[in-house]
Amino acid sequence: MDFKFTEEQEAIREAIRDLAQNEFAPKAEHYDETGEFPWENVKKLAQYGFLGMVIPEQYGGTEADTLSHTICMEEVAKACAATSVIMEVHNTLHCEPFVKFGNDEQKARYMPRLATGELLGAFALTEPNAGSDAANQSTTAVRDGDSYVLNGRKNFISNGAVADLYIVFAVTDKTKGTKGISAFLVEKGTEGLSFGLPEKKMGIRASHTTDVILENCRIPAANLLANEGDGFKIAMTTLDGGRIGIGAQALGIAQAALDAAVNYAKTRVQFGKPIGQLQAVAWMLAEMATEVEAARWMVYRAAWLKDQGGRCDKEVAMAKLYASTVASKHTNKAVQIHGGYGYIQDYHVERMMRDAKITEIYEGTSEIMKLIISANLLK
Ligand code: CAA
Repeated sequence: MDFKFTEEQEAIREAIRDLAQNEFAPKAEHYDETGEFPWENVKKLAQYGFLGMVIPEQYGGTEADTLSHTICMEEVAKACAATSVIMEVHNTLHCEPFVKFGNDEQKARYMPRLATGELLGAFALTEPNAGSDAANQSTTAVRDGDSYVLNGRKNFISNGAVADLYIVFAVTDKTKGTKGISAFLVEKGTEGLSFGLPEKKMGIRASHTTDVILENCRIPAANLLANEGDGFKIAMTTLDGGRIGIGAQALGIAQAALDAAVNYAKTRVQFGKPIGQLQAVAWMLAEMATEVEAARWMVYRAAWLKDQGGRCDKEVAMAKLYASTVASKHTNKAVQIHGGYGYIQDYHVERMMRDAKITEIYEGTSEIMKLIISANLLK
């Protein structure tokens, strides 16, 4: 057992921490308030190679391991949770399945531009009636000569409208259940592809979330990812990676809230002493720190396990379940420690509390994580 990071992982942490603290953190409040898409941050991530992290070197990426990406997610989320999910969706939900399941021609066509961030990726699985029940897809893809014609409506799509390339899941054979779902690459600008307005959300407000609408959207048959019927497996294996990313996002938000609470507890004086010296507050901090640390190692271990190969959905689900619970619980505690100041924008913890909630919902709710864990225990 080795709890030490490699020199490369330490260097990556230092680089992304500098970028996130110097460039993203000072603007997090502005992006939260305005809901503007943080293009400036995305361009910086691209400039420093963080949008090519899972892409092979031959296509211009840096091919980092999952633990390195996890470290980056944690550091970016500490500064700006909205920016972190934009990166996560591009890297883990879009580029990773593309690397794993795309063919050489598809990779040559798109991957160098995904690696530099010239193209931003998205993942379109969820539908109004296929949320937790992801297999209940209604979007259809019908083969017509050298094309597929797609019809349907995806919703809650992160990077919706702002992305350039979408992995879209659709039913190619209704009689085959999960084995009748396929995955396709759909380019922005394709006739029949349009978007809804950005949702007005409680948190991660600068990360745009829209419907993706497909109306007789004709794409080349060459845009099928892997084979017909592979879509559900692609979605599930992709989400195993994605859930590590969201666990890391939760971890980063929780750490930022803990840091803010510790800082406040040292400087806020009541009853003649800093409030950190009051046992009620000191114990809250101790519990927060312990649980954030436990979440950290569960998330890191899930990342390490994924890189060993093989299925690790139980450990991934445990890590996401725990880290997101910790993030929700302890951002709330951080607000409590700040008292009235925690409830106003200036101290940032109310934003963290709002941002944390989504980690219990997207890429599989906490209830779905429990379902995956218990199914593994009982099989
Ligand atoms: N790895 C590989 N294969 C997997 C798998 C995994 N992790 N999980 C399931 N499978 C396979 C199963 O082995 C099975 O294969 P066989 O038929 O060959 O045996 C097949 O997939 C079907 O599996 P299930 O019977 O378990 O499928 P199910 O319909 O019962 O659904 C579920 C399982 C876990 C509930 C799934 O629907 C699920 O994960 N739901 C949550 C959906 C979700 O997370 N959505 C997130 C949307 S993206 C998002 O949120 C992004 C964002 O905004 C940031």
